[in-house]
Amino acid sequence: MAPVPYFKLNTGATAPAIGLGCWAGFEQKDRDASKQWILSALKAGYRRIDTAWFYGTEQAVGEAIKESGIPREEIFVVTKLSWHHAYGREEEGINSSLERLGLEYVDLWLMHWPQAVLYENNDPLPKDENGNLKINHEADFRKTWAAMEKIYQSGKARAIGVSNFSIKNLEILLKDAKVTPADNQIELHPYLVQEELVQYCQSRGIAVTAYAPTGYATVRADPTIVALAEKYGASPAQVILAWHVARGVHAMPCSKDPAHQAQNIDLPVLAPADVARISALDKGKRLCNAADENGKVNGWTLEQLGW
Ligand SMILES: NC(=O)c1ccc[n+]([C@@H]2O[C@H](COP(=O)([O-])OP(=O)(O)OC[C@H]3O[C@@H](n4cnc5c(N)ncnc54)[C@H](OP(=O)(O)O)[C@@H]3O)[C@@H](O)[C@H]2O)c1
Repeated sequence: MAPVPYFKLNTGATAPAIGLGCWAGFEQKDRDASKQWILSALKAGYRRIDTAWFYGTEQAVGEAIKESGIPREEIFVVTKLSWHHAYGREEEGINSSLERLGLEYVDLWLMHWPQAVLYENNDPLPKDENGNLKINHEADFRKTWAAMEKIYQSGKARAIGVSNFSIKNLEILLKDAKVTPADNQIELHPYLVQEELVQYCQSRGIAVTAYAPTGYATVRADPTIVALAEKYGASPAQVILAWHVARGVHAMPCSKDPAHQAQNIDLPVLAPADVARISALDKGKRLCNAADENGKVNGWTLEQLGW
């Protein structure tokens, strides 16, 4: 077993390869309760925290950091400009995130999605009469990126990046970008290996971060994963996270369980043949953000997303 390595970003900063995902669900009571498990992760040794405006856990993250007594500069804090508030509200987005976090800067600030949702009274998921998410069709992620670049220059975000971007949308963004994204956070696990996108990003200095990194109980129960877990004397989650690290991919597992939290930052080092065995499990299957019955994900078609 080995401790979590630090990976270098294109800004020159380093970040722990494994961080704590801080999605706590939609219920306010669960969001309020998140401070305790975020604190337990910090005490267990986590030094990277992944939150977002949309998660409603920024305040809990800030309180947990303060209560942990760990110096601010030792913790790599990531938050996201929510697509709901993104368009034309970027400055307000970073300022309100920093206020909730109680911090002067974040280490990485991500554009949560390439698409934007209409801003309606702070509603995170504004829907039309048919229950469809209201998309802002005027929005242009290149303009959002330009605004984020200015905020990066101000120092409020020490690195900026994107999330849920495909090669297609990265090509569009990179054409005008003055700052290359430091990171692209995408759904990634052994059933969704995305080798081409990972290579594309890494060859351009864009770090890749995995969300839904363990692939939930579905992937953790895969017979190959279970067999490898036995071989390495580790849990299935540890084997999957070690596979991400072996690919040079950052991963943000979410766990409220102190035993799981401890496992997820103490990983085996996999033999290259075992890394290849896990990559061969690919099914191109999205388990977190699969298309809905209209073939859309958060209001965009798979074609618009470039998925
Ligand atoms: N950018 C985006 O659009 C986006 C989208 C989705 C998620 N995310 C980020 O990615 C993070 C993680 O995503 P996720 O929660 O969907 O996926 P995940 O971390 O792969 O799965 C979380 C589940 O795995 C369990 N788990 C974690 N470690 C385990 C272990 N060692 N053994 C057994 N079970 C374990 C957790 O249960 P216990 O609590 O019982 O351990 C929880 O039920 C989120 O919190 C968020 O930060 C980003």
